[in-house]
Amino acid sequence: MPITTALASSAPSETVSAAAIHAQDLVKKYGDFTAVDGISFSVTRGESFGLLGPNGAGKSTTMRMIAAVASRTSGQMLVAGLDPEQQGPEVRARLGVIPQQDNLDEELTVRENIIMYGRYFGLPRRYLLAKADELLTFAQLEHKANSRVEDLSGGMKRRLTIARALVNEPEVLLLDEPTTGLDPQARHVLWDRLFRLKESGTTLVLTTHHMDEAEQLCDRLVVVDHGTIMAEGSPAGLIREHSTREVLELRFGMDRNAEQAKTLEELLTNTGRDMARTDPYGSARVPDVAVPTGTGEVGFSHIEVLPDRLLVYAEQAEAAMEKIHAAGHRPMTSLVRRSSLEDVFLRLTGRSLID
Ligand SMILES: Nc1ncnc2c1ncn2[C@@H]1O[C@H](COP(=O)(O)OP(=O)(O)OP(=O)(O)O)[C@@H](O)[C@H]1O
Ligand SMILES: [Mg+2]
Repeated sequence: MPITTALASSAPSETVSAAAIHAQDLVKKYGDFTAVDGISFSVTRGESFGLLGPNGAGKSTTMRMIAAVASRTSGQMLVAGLDPEQQGPEVRARLGVIPQQDNLDEELTVRENIIMYGRYFGLPRRYLLAKADELLTFAQLEHKANSRVEDLSGGMKRRLTIARALVNEPEVLLLDEPTTGLDPQARHVLWDRLFRLKESGTTLVLTTHHMDEAEQLCDRLVVVDHGTIMAEGSPAGLIREHSTREVLELRFGMDRNAEQAKTLEELLTNTGRDMARTDPYGSARVPDVAVPTGTGEVGFSHIEVLPDRLLVYAEQAEAAMEKIHAAGHRPMTSLVRRSSLEDVFLRLTGRSLID
């Protein structure tokens, strides 16, 4: 029996009902196990919003509650101003849903999949014939219109699932792991299509455990772990807040990494730690700028020890490397890169996003 929410008895504020999605203290329990543990977030209309987290974080469970296919244990939720538990059909009519696993009808052709799906929404056949052509063009599947689904590649199936979800011209598109399992080229084609939708004003809500996908597509995201929100912000903002501008990846060999970490920490601790939070170029998207390097300008923050390598967090990773070399340390490999959302996740949870 769904719990009656406070929303039923009190009128939601204008901001809340104007949001595409508003979730407050959302909880989902399966027996004694809590899959979603009191999360709150709001998605603005036209925004591209992400739930980034590892396997089992509660992303799909949250999506199912938004999509009116799973009940919530407690908390409040509005989708386009409607409560999915009270107004399921109305909510579903406004949403396009791309589930984690494609659920296309393998027996039907590509075009028939779109038309049949539209029939579930009670859309007229004439409208659907024209709409199917438009969506096949959008999904770059015109040449496969009469192929059976089982003959499509994984990337094509994913594009068809997205095309199908657009048949009712949804206000909000829910994408659960849109590109997981696809090869890099197929992922880029999909990102391009999703970017076009975003440009055209469709609200996108997506889950992913790929930080590059989150960085590519999300205006704003929440980092989710064990059913709770660890942080919220834009990709660049999260990196600025929770990491340094750059990272130096060093490999000394599996048996030496931990011991080397201690030595390097001591070496780097006195080299301009005060810079760590003052660098204005902390965004992964800001182009490189010429900043003088040298002693005192490393902006060292900390070192993470992974089984196969050390991650040295510093505003100026090249300067950190120079200092390490100057002290006579010789790593087997070294790599300087910008900080990413993976570093944010590691900092927040002590674990890697990819298991
Ligand atoms: N129907 C269910 N019954 C019991 N437990 C469930 C059910 N659905 C999900 N869970 C559990 O809830 C937790 C969250 O699952 P969920 O599918 O939401 O994670 P996720 O973040 O989508 O993970 P993934 O990245 O692997 O898709 C997991 O521990 C999962 O085992
Ligand atoms: Mg999932």
